[in-house]
This record gives sequence, C-alpha cells and structure tokens, in this order.
Amino acid sequence: MISEALQRARDYESRYAPLIPDTERPLFHATPSVGWMNDPNGFSFYRGECHLFYQYHPYSCEWGPMHWGHLKTKDFIRWERLPVVLAPDKLYDSAGCFSGSAQELPDGRHLLLYTGVRRKGETDVQTQCVAVGDGVNYEKYSLNPVLDETDLPQGGSRADFRDPKLWASDSGYDAVIGNRTPDGSGAALLFHSPDGFQWTFARTLDRSQNRYGRMWECPDYFPLGGRQILFVSPQDMTPIGLEFHAGNGVVCLIGEEGKSGFVRQAVQAVDYGIDFYAPQTLLTPDGRRVMIGWMQNWNTVGHRLPGCRWFGQMSVPRELSLRDGRLTQAPVRELEQYRGEAVRYRGVPLEGPLTLPGVRGRVLDMTVSVRPAGDRLRAFRLYIAEGKGYETALRWDPEEGVMELDRSGSGICQDVVHARRFPVQAEDGGLTLRVVLDRFSVEVFASGGRAAASAVLCTPQEADGIRFEADGAALLDVEKYELVFDGREGESR
Ligand code: FRU
Repeated sequence: MISEALQRARDYESRYAPLIPDTERPLFHATPSVGWMNDPNGFSFYRGECHLFYQYHPYSCEWGPMHWGHLKTKDFIRWERLPVVLAPDKLYDSAGCFSGSAQELPDGRHLLLYTGVRRKGETDVQTQCVAVGDGVNYEKYSLNPVLDETDLPQGGSRADFRDPKLWASDSGYDAVIGNRTPDGSGAALLFHSPDGFQWTFARTLDRSQNRYGRMWECPDYFPLGGRQILFVSPQDMTPIGLEFHAGNGVVCLIGEEGKSGFVRQAVQAVDYGIDFYAPQTLLTPDGRRVMIGWMQNWNTVGHRLPGCRWFGQMSVPRELSLRDGRLTQAPVRELEQYRGEAVRYRGVPLEGPLTLPGVRGRVLDMTVSVRPAGDRLRAFRLYIAEGKGYETALRWDPEEGVMELDRSGSGICQDVVHARRFPVQAEDGGLTLRVVLDRFSVEVFASGGRAAASAVLCTPQEADGIRFEADGAALLDVEKYELVFDGREGESR
C-alpha cells in the first residue's frame, strides 16, 4: 500500500525531475531526482545490482521532512533513477525517515533499517524502524519501531539515537548505531538481530568522550586489511593539527577486535577537503570495500548553482584499503571503463607556469607526478577549472609536507570556507596526484590515495583550463583521460 505522502512525492518527482536538463547535472556523480539530497543510505547489493538510497526532500533545494530517494547502478558510475521509497507517513517517523542501511534477506526481500523521528513536546524521539521490499516498493514493518529508548544503555539519549548501519554476521545481523552519552558526546553502539527484525543491544563499540566531536552520526564498522575500521561523522569537531577541520568531519578509527570489544589504535580524517560527510560502505561480490559519501558538509552547505532544481551530490564511490596502517582510497576501478583517449606527457621540464596541449577539461581523470629536477623543488601548484577569472588551486609545499586545496576562485560567492590544508609528504622528493573532475566537483587523491580531498565547484563549465607551476625545477608526468558517457564527452576540446 502506497501512502498518500509517498504517492505525492512520487508524483512530484515524476513531474519535475524530467524538467532538469542533463547539462545541469554532473555526468557520473549521483544527484537527487529533484530537490535536496544529503546522506547516502542503504548502499547495498540486491539481486546483483547496487542500490543507493539517499536522504531526500523532493519539494525544495533545502533540507525538509526526510524521504528516501532511490538510485541503482551496475557499475557505480551510471545511475538509474527509481521512485522515492519512504515518506514520513507514520507516527513514529512523522518528523522524518532519517539515515539507515540495507541488506538482502535470505528469502529474497530487501530489508531497510532506518531511523524514524517524531516530535514529542520540545524534543525529537529517534527510534529504529524496518521496511522490506523488492527493489522498487517497500512496506514498513507492522511492529515498528524495532529499537527504541528502552533498548539504550543507561544514560543514552533518545533524541540522538540514529543512523543504523547493518551487515550480515555469523548468527544473523549486526548493526552499529550512533548515540549520545551523558557527557554530551557521541558513541557507537552495537546491536544484534537473528533475523533483521528483532534487535537487542550488544555493547558500546567506542565513545568520543568529547575528544572527537559531539554527536557521532552515521557510523559504519567493517574489517579491512586485517583490522577493524569504525567510521563516524561527528558534529562539532575541534581541529587537531591539520586533521578534522571540517566542523562536521568524518573520522576513521582503526583498531582491532579484542576480547572486550573494539580496541582503538589509530585515528585519521577520511577526507581532507571541504565537502565530504556521512559515508557508507559495502562489500562488493568480488570482495572490495567501497565507500560513498555525501559531497557536501553541513558547515558550508549554503551555496547553490543559480536557478538549479537539485542540490547535493555523492562522491565518486571509492575502493578502500589499508596501507602501512593508513586508510587509502581510490575511485572505483569501473571509472576506468569510461576513459577516452589518453593524453600523455613524460618528463616535461617544469620551471614556472606551464600549460600542455590537450590537457584541459571539466570531466576527466588525470594523474600528475612531479619530481625534483636537480635543484630542490620548493613548491608545486596545479590550477584547474581555470579561465575567465576563475581558478581552483592545489598548492603543495614539499618541505612542509602540506597541500592546500583552494576553491576561492571557483564561482562560489558566499563567505564560507574555501580552502583546506592537509598533510601530503614528499615521496623521493616528489608527488603523485590523481584528480577526478565532473563538472561541479573536484576529488583529489594524493600519494596513492593516502590523502583524499573533495570539494564542489560552481565554476562555469567554459572555465576548463589546467595549468602547472613550480618554484624551483621539476620534471612532470601527466596522464589525462576525458571521461566519455554515451558519446557525450566532458567539455574538453
Ligand atoms: C547526517 C544526518 C544524520 C541524519 C540525517 C538527517 O548528515 O544529520 O544523522 O540521519 O542527516 O537528514
């Protein structure tokens, strides 16, 4: 049975989504059908295809009562639009269907576990709820909510109890859920279920204790490279050195499962750019751990493309690995299938500014390596989306081991943060950078993906120049591919 609220949302998106021209969207980054998108939800394989749901307010480009929008993909790059699946139409989710996750059940149904929010007096009450469906239509479980405040450990907040991420375990399913402890800061709680419907609290995995932000949103917990990884997206982060500057950042806690639970060993930021939050991961059938995040951030979320009828996009899905104890990221390998002809340069002397024939564009996958040429390399700069007074800069100081991503010249005229600095150490005195552009964004993977940085751009598409610059002398290698979809290329010439 489709509720009135869900039918209304479906009618609305089928009427208005087709009015958005393709030219106003990125070519391969997931965007909402119409209106507002935030967190990725329910990122999962179901009947051999990858489904991605998202926090969705179809009726405006602002956050509002949350629905779940729906996309699916066969290769993480091309997305097919499906009708909205959840609307806030029950008492327990009347203030919104917040973030959650999905799993395929042994009986062939797709199970969604999400947070239902309702207002009670002055506060929100957040509970966990289930819906099951067939990949298109989903029905809310009659015994919802399946977890409420009575399931919390002592002192846990019922107003901040959200974002369940579930996975199949030996004896059914486990889920990690964000909560707020009496000290006001976040915790990641582990729950267990034999069947996906009946849930009980197992233990607290880890807590912020006011060190890594306040409320921990959107946790995820998974094995990687022989360790256990806990992702959390804390609100109100205090920066530590060059880490965690985003206010709402994503923190990767690396540890092991000891006898008494998760033992934290190392902590790092997941993305050092301006726009990345609330990621979710899945395990692909061929064993890769793939992450997708919201390429936005609550602290800088204000800007809009003029006249645009959608807002919010996802990052490119990224393969995760652990290298030397560090989380490492690379765009999913499927992206390479969309590479057009290569433009390659090897060992080009770089002293001062340089442009290279064939190296320009706004939809591309480019790898750049610089190494010192005899003399010390004092600085390297890469400018993208350049022209007509616009530019977005990546500036690297090898001695300091710091890179800066600066989009002040990217066409966003609002007084929000436009630059971030993050650690990128020299390797043999040089640097390798992979840069992925898709019309309205840049994603940077430095040093083989040891540091990733994402930012949205509002730069007009005609500003498609790319320029290299060095202080001192360097040798430059460039391998640049346009990304080509249905014969439609990026804007490069
Ligand atoms: C994170 C978040 C989640 C919540 C959702 C609401 O961005 O605040 O904690 O479920 O967004 O849209």
